[in-house]
Amino acid sequence: MKFLLTLAILAAAIFVCFGSSATWGRRNSNDYLLSRQVEVRNPIKNNYWNVNVDFPRAGTVNYYNISAIYVYDNFKNTSGATPALWSGGPGYRFAQLNLRSQVNRGLNSTIEIYGR
Ligand SMILES: *[C@@H]1O[C@H](CO)[C@@H](O)[C@H](O)[C@H]1NC(C)=O
Ligand SMILES: *[C@@H]1O[C@H](CO)[C@@H](O)[C@H](O)[C@H]1NC(C)=O
Ligand SMILES: *[C@@H]1O[C@H](CO)[C@@H](O)[C@H](O)[C@H]1NC(C)=O
Repeated sequence: MKFLLTLAILAAAIFVCFGSSATWGRRNSNDYLLSRQVEVRNPIKNNYWNVNVDFPRAGTVNYYNISAIYVYDNFKNTSGATPALWSGGPGYRFAQLNLRSQVNRGLNSTIEIYGR
């Protein structure tokens, strides 16, 4: 029990430190890569970016069930955007993600969506 608690605290600490990459769901070996996109923004002085990423893109239709969503922070130095899954995701055919950058810092994140 104590071990599990320690593990949970450790996991939380890692999440806080490297909170700019995230995964939802689990990718199966035979899943298709449904979408891969890179969002890049330049820093804004005294402000942050709040970027919504919709899947499928407006005007397109997705017939596959999403199994996993991966967001990679390409900065890799903890100054990248924090990703959040606002709706949909694994088990759905759509997803709305949000990337919130830090003040005075831009963002460069890769979003991969897998499904079948
Ligand atoms: C997608 O998931 C739903 C609910 O789990 C399931 O009923 C449906 O058959 C799945 N569709 C495909 C194409 O796998
Ligand atoms: C964003 O990150 C990717 C992967 O590291 C890199 O190839 C690309 O040049 C970066 N884009 C910008 C505008 O920095
Ligand atoms: C993190 O990396 C990015 C891209 O390499 C860079 O623009 C930014 O200044 C770095 N941030 C810090 C705090 O070092």
